[in-house]
Amino acid sequence: MKVIITDKIPIVAEQLIKRAGFGVKVIKRDKNFSKNVLIKNIKDADAVISLLSDKIDKEVIDNMRRCKIIANYAVGFNNIDLAYAKSKGIIVTNTPDVLTDATADLAMTLILSCARRFHEAEKLVREKKFKGWAPELLLGYDLKCKTLGIIGAGRIGQATALRALGFGLKILYYNRTRKTEFENQTKAKKVSMNLLLKKSDFISIHLPLTNETKLLINRNNMKYLKPNAIVINTARGEIIDEEYLIQLLKSRKIFAAGFDVYENEPKLNPKLLKLENAILLPHIGSATVETRNAMAELAAKNVINVLNHKKALTQIN
Ligand code: DGY
Repeated sequence: MKVIITDKIPIVAEQLIKRAGFGVKVIKRDKNFSKNVLIKNIKDADAVISLLSDKIDKEVIDNMRRCKIIANYAVGFNNIDLAYAKSKGIIVTNTPDVLTDATADLAMTLILSCARRFHEAEKLVREKKFKGWAPELLLGYDLKCKTLGIIGAGRIGQATALRALGFGLKILYYNRTRKTEFENQTKAKKVSMNLLLKKSDFISIHLPLTNETKLLINRNNMKYLKPNAIVINTARGEIIDEEYLIQLLKSRKIFAAGFDVYENEPKLNPKLLKLENAILLPHIGSATVETRNAMAELAAKNVINVLNHKKALTQIN
């Protein structure tokens, strides 16, 4: 049995798979890596551990002749055609829970950094423009007594809200279903999307990308944003109208935005680079040593279970 890992991930994955008695190969990516290279490498695999940047569409799946499981090394799974994989009898798994805290920490980091203009302040010092303390230098906003709107009150959204409580923020949330336990724990109120955008000083996006959530935040509802609004996206770029968000930031109709994800990732809209009131991160929501190890371990355990004809731990299709 052969397991293919489509890029180097923490060694624990390889170790566990080998210890379970299966062969494993890690693809060495170089600048020539392409869909065809991916297909060539995985066509005889019994199991694949994929990255969120590997587009596993019908064409790729049709070329997986023996694959029993695609274990995505991410909580998001919009890169995989789940239904088609299922129709071919391929189990798909993700890595939930283990990356909740790291991603919520990053969302909170962006909230604080945007509110206190961290990126502008740091740049000013590096550029040797710091001429001494000044009453109006780089004024930002307090968090205390402000409102955080959580869009998507799943694991990461809730974990972000819990962190925000410690900074004195009140919580509104938008979610398909009501989360009573979350409400009891945080006094959060469930509201419509329009009301959330109207009332929130900070907006943090935590939805999965699906056909329903694509452009859920768009020019029709973003018109409700407050002039001091700060928008944070650590979920997926396609959930919000990026071009319109850029317009709002450029014309200072909102205060700031923190991006960890982009519409056409890894390609960046060049207009983003010119915005002073945006923080741009390279999709590092889960990027801590502990979390990436835990993700590798979970992906490997899913593979081992399925190859041993046992139930996957986190099946999504
Ligand atoms: C994921 O795993 O889907 C997240 O985007 C990590 O940041």
